[in-house]
Amino acid sequence: MSDPTEYIDMPRDEIDTPVLLVDLAALEYNIAKLAEHFRQAGKNLRPHTKSHKTPAIAQLQLAAGAQGITCAKVGEAEAMADAGIQDILIANEVIGRRKIERLMALAARCDIMVAVDHPQNLADLDEAAKTYKVRPRVLVEVNIGHNRCGVPPAAVVELARAADKAENLRFCGIMGYEGHIVDLEDKTAREAGAHECIQRLVDARADIEGAGLECSICSASGTGDYYISTTFDGITEVQAGSYALMDAAYGKLDLGFKNALSVLTTVTSRPAPDQVITDAGLKSLTPEHGLPPVKDRPDLECHALSEEHGRLRSIGGPCTDLQPCDLLEFIPGHGCTTINLHDNLYAIRDGRLEAIWPIAGRGKVR
Ligand SMILES: Cc1ncc(COP(=O)(O)O)c(C=O)c1O
Repeated sequence: MSDPTEYIDMPRDEIDTPVLLVDLAALEYNIAKLAEHFRQAGKNLRPHTKSHKTPAIAQLQLAAGAQGITCAKVGEAEAMADAGIQDILIANEVIGRRKIERLMALAARCDIMVAVDHPQNLADLDEAAKTYKVRPRVLVEVNIGHNRCGVPPAAVVELARAADKAENLRFCGIMGYEGHIVDLEDKTAREAGAHECIQRLVDARADIEGAGLECSICSASGTGDYYISTTFDGITEVQAGSYALMDAAYGKLDLGFKNALSVLTTVTSRPAPDQVITDAGLKSLTPEHGLPPVKDRPDLECHALSEEHGRLRSIGGPCTDLQPCDLLEFIPGHGCTTINLHDNLYAIRDGRLEAIWPIAGRGKVR
């Protein structure tokens, strides 16, 4: 729930803090830029929504031409289906009776697709689909180098055959995720890594087709290497997601997207001429990809976050212009986990609050 004293069109400077902001002009720029890339490349974009978790943003991505969306968890997919979104990939294995039942309930109300990498899970999905009288789509996940989930490339044909035979499932193809290279700052290493991993995935697709099976979807990649994947004939769609809002870690890669995400925070104390304390700490933003830079203030450095405090020091002399009550914006180091701490995203245009969007997928880790 948003604060009832916050109203649409109020000035950004009057919103109570700490609060998560989205700069609408930057968001729209990012969505349009990637949509245009995919239009020109003739490939499908299926944005991963695990980063923003916000149906209103997913709707903007779909309106700009995205094929469907990607989610990480059944709960995230439920939140997106509740908003009327139809074409959803859960790019993850769904394991265990309770989650599989929820997956089948989703299959009854939207066109769900799920990753599999184990014959027992495939059998469990097939049996549940029969009970629920649904026919969800499945993609076999291939380990293309990340060493997280996925069958080794040499085992992909066998599992694809089993998926194709499963009477209550629709085998649609394969996916892989090269998560170990997507955010490498070294562009040469990132692009070389992407080529190597994507080649493994398209080779797996060729093996499946060589075995006489249809493989209409071949899905991979993220924000740091989408433009490499779209050069491969064998790739049909890409799962990039962070591009919409960006964060400080991805910002270092110079990908041409604008930073659209920030945490608005109030200066609460000035304990020393070079010290500035604000009201946003670990409960408002996460530090695992680095402490947050302060927007438009290269003279300030965040050197620590405690639960409810951001601790800044000024670089090269005292900070003379900030008093308690003044506002600053942190750019989160990692958008995905920071957004997960907030109920709502406050959408700002030209310094005014245009909308308050519920982050409906927030906390949906099951
Ligand atoms: C399976 C999968 N696909 C795609 C992505 C895309 O992510 P991003 O756009 O953040 O690089 C992720 C991110 O973690 C992922 O786990």
